[in-house]
Amino acid sequence: MTAAEAGTASPGNHLPVQSGPTAPVFRSAMRQFVGSVSVVTTWHGDRPWGMTISSFTSVCIDPPTILVCLHGSTVTASHVRGCGRFGVNLLGRDQHHLSELCAKPQADKYIDDYVVSSCNGSKELSPPRLAGSPVVLACRTIEQLSVGSHLVAIAAVEAVDLPDAAAPLLYGQGRYMHGVDLVRA
Ligand SMILES: Cc1cc2nc3c(=O)[nH]c(=O)nc-3n(C[C@H](O)[C@H](O)[C@H](O)COP(=O)(O)O)c2cc1C
Repeated sequence: MTAAEAGTASPGNHLPVQSGPTAPVFRSAMRQFVGSVSVVTTWHGDRPWGMTISSFTSVCIDPPTILVCLHGSTVTASHVRGCGRFGVNLLGRDQHHLSELCAKPQADKYIDDYVVSSCNGSKELSPPRLAGSPVVLACRTIEQLSVGSHLVAIAAVEAVDLPDAAAPLLYGQGRYMHGVDLVRA
């Protein structure tokens, strides 16, 4: 039985067989998913660059590992393919403007005015850190997969910064959200 007949991804392309929902149906379903918003940061020469994502998750705690999904045609995806290092800056509830700035397709997304200086002085090892972000992770790619339009980067977390205890910015149903009601047990 081939991988296609088995309904599994074939080796190499990591794409499932085209037998599921149409793209609009799947998109509608995914709009209901509410999650945090992050900015992936990289250095472009001497200047910091940011790209907004919601596709961030931890893979495992030990060893500390995360993944992000980046559209393959973005400047950030090219950078991650090239040098493998990037930062993940979770956005706080008051950083909605940064999410907008770093989500403009095909526009410059330099973020010089929003970063704090590098902690150990080495730009290569320390990704740009956004001022006011509650969590900043310094990541090194250990595996890259190409899935449809996207690059999936699985990365080791080399450093964690928890500078501000801000509540997270959330995104879902096509809009930003500031919080959710707590469910009482
Ligand atoms: C809330 C939000 C979440 C996003 N999440 C992702 C994501 O997970 N992956 C992705 O490739 N693009 C995501 N985008 C779109 C990118 O931010 C945007 O297309 C990108 O900045 C374009 O970069 P480019 O100019 O290098 O092409 C998101 C946008 C918003 C507003």
